[in-house]
Amino acid sequence: MNHTSIIGTGSYVPANIVSNATFEKIVDTSDEWIRTRTGIENRHISINENTSDLAYEASVRALDDARLSAERIDLIICATVTPDYFIPGVSQILQRRLGCDAITAFDINAACTGFIYALEIADKMLGSGDYENALVIGAETLSKFTDFSDRNTCVLFADAAGAMVLTRGEKQSIKKIVTHAWGDLEGFLRMETYPLKQDFLTVEDKRPFIRMNGREIFKFATRVLPETIRELLALTGYDLHDLDLIIAHQANKRIIDHAAKVLAFPPGKMYVNIDRYGNTSAASVPLAIDEAKREGRLAKGELFATVAFGAGLTWGGAIIEL
Ligand code: UT7
Repeated sequence: MNHTSIIGTGSYVPANIVSNATFEKIVDTSDEWIRTRTGIENRHISINENTSDLAYEASVRALDDARLSAERIDLIICATVTPDYFIPGVSQILQRRLGCDAITAFDINAACTGFIYALEIADKMLGSGDYENALVIGAETLSKFTDFSDRNTCVLFADAAGAMVLTRGEKQSIKKIVTHAWGDLEGFLRMETYPLKQDFLTVEDKRPFIRMNGREIFKFATRVLPETIRELLALTGYDLHDLDLIIAHQANKRIIDHAAKVLAFPPGKMYVNIDRYGNTSAASVPLAIDEAKREGRLAKGELFATVAFGAGLTWGGAIIEL
């Protein structure tokens, strides 16, 4: 059968933990503001590991969990907005480092929704019958693109990687997956690239940074999170009561609390780890899925919904049975 079964997960964060207290020293903020407005207490900031290093460690753990050797993987998709290089991609670096054959490997950019998009692509590629085992990763070193003098963003973003191994099998783990986009022409959430050259003489030293209109993104996120859950339930025929857990993109604890309230879903069944990791963009969902599994919050056969939203604008979600 050309079904997609999830057979392993893994995650990795750099060792360096940065607490809210550190930001009190560098910008006009307070531990109290960050905790109450976002739910973040600590985050991991990489000192010398790049995105592919975090992705590699998460992948090794996921392959280990799946009890599958890297030679058996024939598809790697990495969701990231912070690759080591524009070229080569993180997925291609991983192909060599993991010791895979000359397989299909590519990166995608759908910001914080990247992992959901990557999962949809992998699900459909496995469903075609042409691929056997896929490694899907969300990995970021957002600290590279963070302006540590901008209090609106620097307290939020951090570094991590999460990975999942999928195989073509008997069981369809991904019950339904949806993805959406609505072009952010206003620039509510942007990571700039280099300016076009007006002439060949000016050499500007302009580092690209993440800039966000937090209030606009907050409004968008609080709308699409419950909307996507309802969409997934309508498409599958499942009921909210069927869900053992909701794993939302960890962007702000208040966004997660708001979704629980409007859906009338038990807050204790909304997964939260933003307090320890901050917002890790495409890594957030696979990191949370892996942690929930390891903490015993998700067991084999249990059903959960995952939803992500972010720059692009992009959003999407899935209902998954482990
Ligand atoms: O992963 C992609 C998706 N991202 C998101 O979903 C993020 C969505 N947005 C948010 O989570 C929230 O909007 C933030 C956490 C970014 C900001 O919280 P907020 O409650 O929406 O604050 P705000 O932007 O409305 O700003 C309120 C005040 C402002 O001061 P004034 O203008 O009222 O004087 C900000 O300058 O809070 C100020 N502020 C801060 N104060 C202390 C903004 N950042 C900080 C800070 N420390 N770090």
